[in-house]
Amino acid sequence: MRMYDLIAKKRDGGEMTRAELEFIVGGFVDGSIPDYQMSAWMMAVYLRGMTDPEVAQLTDIMAHSGDMVDLSAIEGVKVDKPSTGGVGDKTTLVITPIVAACGVKIAKMSGRGLGHTGGTVDKMESVPGTRTALDQEEFFRQVNEIGIAVIGQSGHLAVADKKMYALRDVTATVGCIPLIAASIMSKKLAAGSDAILLDVTTGNGAFMKTVEESIRLAQMMVAIGTHNGRRVAALITDMDTPLGHNIGNSLEVAESMEVLKGRGPADLTEVCLQLAANMLVLAGKGTPDECRAMAQAVIDDGSAFAKCKQMFAAQGGDVRVLEDYSLFPQPAASFELLAEQDGYIWSNDTEKIGNASVLLGAGRITKEDVLDLSAGIVLHKKTGDAVKKGESLCTFYGAPEKFAAAEAMYRSGLVYSDRKPEPAPLVYARVTSDGVERF
Ligand code: URA
Repeated sequence: MRMYDLIAKKRDGGEMTRAELEFIVGGFVDGSIPDYQMSAWMMAVYLRGMTDPEVAQLTDIMAHSGDMVDLSAIEGVKVDKPSTGGVGDKTTLVITPIVAACGVKIAKMSGRGLGHTGGTVDKMESVPGTRTALDQEEFFRQVNEIGIAVIGQSGHLAVADKKMYALRDVTATVGCIPLIAASIMSKKLAAGSDAILLDVTTGNGAFMKTVEESIRLAQMMVAIGTHNGRRVAALITDMDTPLGHNIGNSLEVAESMEVLKGRGPADLTEVCLQLAANMLVLAGKGTPDECRAMAQAVIDDGSAFAKCKQMFAAQGGDVRVLEDYSLFPQPAASFELLAEQDGYIWSNDTEKIGNASVLLGAGRITKEDVLDLSAGIVLHKKTGDAVKKGESLCTFYGAPEKFAAAEAMYRSGLVYSDRKPEPAPLVYARVTSDGVERF
């Protein structure tokens, strides 16, 4: 078999066989297929697509390119909640303690920030002392003892995805439904959970820009998971606006704690309750209404926040910062970004807001960048809000020499109008193997 011929086959719209996919993925992982040929093949996939059987086989081969974690040493149903990524998207920090406080085990591996989107592991590390690299024995012990551990993904999990993702990131092949589906589901199948609730974000801050594309991606991932014997459902959630007000690592931890204390922003709280309820349904805890009531109850009685503190403490974190946010390491400076005119915020490009926070130091521009965990943005005005000239739209936090570039980035995505835009739904649809339920 020659990689040249396989690139040409996909370029011409052909369907790869399992043996061909094994040759491509295996050769890329062992280095016999160079980056330039893999890039060409992935661009051909981007342009020509893949059939459902092709994606299912690619996912399976990618999942088996590294360790397959066996979570059977942890009793009970284990539920995971991968997201396709967003800005200000701190739902994992809120939902996992809620679900654990309801008695469902969380043995979760999460990622770091990617492009303009944030990552749970970076956010957790903003709590001083927190360890996110537990070995398997410690990971299992913690889940068995306190019901929850959220750690970074081991380097040996879905090794092919790690290499393919790095190449996609620099060859304009990230936003491709079959490649995203195989990337996410290969990691999740390898990570071993019994049930998976996918948070598929949609809008100008997400990799999928339209609801229809997001539904298609969700259907593909649900089919892959179901075929592999996992219980899977997906919610299509809005990412035309950042979730909540805070963007940046310690800022997002603080806002997540506010939700767990019952006083978080309404949009973030609502999305978290819906995601948590759906995870509980997948874990067999009851009907959607019962599960939502359970999730609300553990916020109201403080047990979800207590579970979160217990998790951070078990992983070495200084939990005093979760009570008193002024104990977080503080940013060097702050800057108010003022409205240039009266009107409504008609749109505020979420990817650009995410990129502005990256420029402030909350995310990485190169792989080697060290994050400023206190850097970020607090939004005071979001899409649909009325503003007066001179009012603060948002506050930047970070090193002062970074403010000008971040301001230019932020303003380039801001559109005012004298009309108020229609509010977008927070959750557009639920996708299961039974079909699509639109809200
Ligand atoms: N997240 C992933 O893990 N992979 C993708 O391809 C996109 C988002």
